Amino acid sequence: MEKDEIIRLLSDEAGEKELFDRADAVRKKYVDDEIHLRGLIEFSNICRNNCLYCGIRRGNDKAARYHMPEEEIIETARRAADMGFKTIVLQSGEDMFYTRERMSRIIAAIKKFDVAVTLSIGEREFDDYKAFREAGADRYLMRIETTDKELYHRLDPGMSWQYRYECLLMLKELGYELGSGIMVGLPGQSIESIAEDLIFLRNLPVDMAGIGPFIPHPDTPLARTSGGNLHLALRTMAVMRLLLPDINIPATTAMESLHPQGRIMALQCGANVVMPNVTDSEYKKLYQLYPGKTDVDKAPMHGFGKIGKLITDIGRTIGTGYGSHKSNLSV
Ligand code: 5AD
Repeated sequence: MEKDEIIRLLSDEAGEKELFDRADAVRKKYVDDEIHLRGLIEFSNICRNNCLYCGIRRGNDKAARYHMPEEEIIETARRAADMGFKTIVLQSGEDMFYTRERMSRIIAAIKKFDVAVTLSIGEREFDDYKAFREAGADRYLMRIETTDKELYHRLDPGMSWQYRYECLLMLKELGYELGSGIMVGLPGQSIESIAEDLIFLRNLPVDMAGIGPFIPHPDTPLARTSGGNLHLALRTMAVMRLLLPDINIPATTAMESLHPQGRIMALQCGANVVMPNVTDSEYKKLYQLYPGKTDVDKAPMHGFGKIGKLITDIGRTIGTGYGSHKSNLSV
């Protein structure tokens, strides 16, 4: 698919039903009806970066900060594994308290629970990524956020788009299953730029792609900007499914923050993954990247509960394996 065609599909509001049906059919053909659940642990909201859009940016002094002790992270993962999660996602701000050694210890301990481990902890050095991989980490998520370098540098002061891209290449080289993605509806982002983002993700290529609408956070410099449009975000995700038919695509929490049915809608136009939050609620409420973060499962530690029912209600099943990208079934 060429850029012009991608732009046409992204812009075609009236024809989106057709796009969604096509993405849903491609999803069914390539990754079937299983929805893979990942237990998400938000283990620290301390971050050295100052991204203008993010609620846990360094400069937000209204955010109460926490980082979970090592044992508590491992214990949370153990409970999630006991519940049946086959993947644990460890996400945090860029918190250097979690040194190479400490992070490696946590990963190795969690790997004993017979789960795939996904990291989402941002930019590090090659030797850190290598150590985490050797400790057992299987996958890594790091959104490129936007491929418009000027926009990126405006929104992520002090960071380097080029280094972020190089991190993605390092992770790939180390054999991680690689996830990346973007936000849709950033101030100053054009449809053409989103089309370029999709081509970037296809060319990497990614094993997983997370696409979510930008939602302004009141305690950030972007508080008064208008946020992303759910339907444009869904169209972006649907086109992603057409570009890389067999990858893993989550129905993102941000979609649900904009619409109570947002995640279900996403699962019916290309998505095949949901990441329920298994973090203890005292921490979870402090991990506010954007406002209105909803929780499908109010009590996630008591079974798949509500999300399990939502999945079967739309005629899908809960994945029983690790839910790796097809080309990498070994975990
Ligand atoms: N709105 C939507 N998504 C956001 N993220 C960060 N801040 C926001 C926001 N205000 C996303 C980024 C990041 C991911 C963990 O959360 O894309 O990579």
